[in-house]
Amino acid sequence: MKIRESFSQNANAYERVNIIQKRVLEALVSRINDAPSHILDIGCGSGGLYKMLDWPVETFVGVDFAEGMLALHPKADNVSLMQRDFNDPSLFKELSSFHFDRIVSASALQWADDLDGVLANIAALNTPVSLAIFTSNTFKTLYETAKLPPLLRSREETTALLEKHFNGEIDILEYTLAFPSVREMFRYMKQSGVGAGRNVLGYKSMKQLMQTYPLEYLEYEIVLLHEKQPR
Ligand SMILES: C[S@@+](CC[C@H](N)C(=O)[O-])C[C@H]1O[C@@H](n2cnc3c(N)ncnc32)[C@H](O)[C@@H]1O
Repeated sequence: MKIRESFSQNANAYERVNIIQKRVLEALVSRINDAPSHILDIGCGSGGLYKMLDWPVETFVGVDFAEGMLALHPKADNVSLMQRDFNDPSLFKELSSFHFDRIVSASALQWADDLDGVLANIAALNTPVSLAIFTSNTFKTLYETAKLPPLLRSREETTALLEKHFNGEIDILEYTLAFPSVREMFRYMKQSGVGAGRNVLGYKSMKQLMQTYPLEYLEYEIVLLHEKQPR
């Protein structure tokens, strides 16, 4: 299943199970202390960021390619939602005619086809950014147990790309999420979006993985970059 379809089909479940993504948003929002009035949210999903803002916002532009997620995003006079793919450079040409005080992207850019290129397009908007990107240490033990190559970019590669394009503080966030049973853990993983679209194991290998996974929790790692000022 493609990433877009996966997010659209699991949009309602995502609302219930996005525990880690909520913590990532809290970490991002806690660093934003300049009360930006014009905000761009890249990969806005069902509105996690918008719902968390506790200052008045004049314009909020949310970009996401999954119709099902956008359908759940709060609507208001100050909210414009664009169903677009952030891999498409023409999106950024369009966005360059807007004015933003801050660009936020939480838990979405790990899905960029060419992260270097997407970050260059974001940097060209010349606006301070707050970005959170999942790394390959997310579900690390799970992939090792399944003998699958990591799905996402490493912490080192993600950090290096962020440092290439931006000039802000980098933090590494590490979380674990415990489950009462391995079965519930796998159900959660399917719905939460971090393994989006990846369903490479057949029934037998999945059953075996559930029997051999050595932990009672899932691992997550996120690189967070927060710029105080524009470059
Ligand atoms: C894990 S969710 C995070 C949503 C929200 N930012 C939050 O923190 O709750 C990732 C979002 O990125 C979107 N996304 C992934 N790849 C995308 C792309 N290439 N273009 C636009 N949106 C994308 C998905 O549709 C999904 O809504």
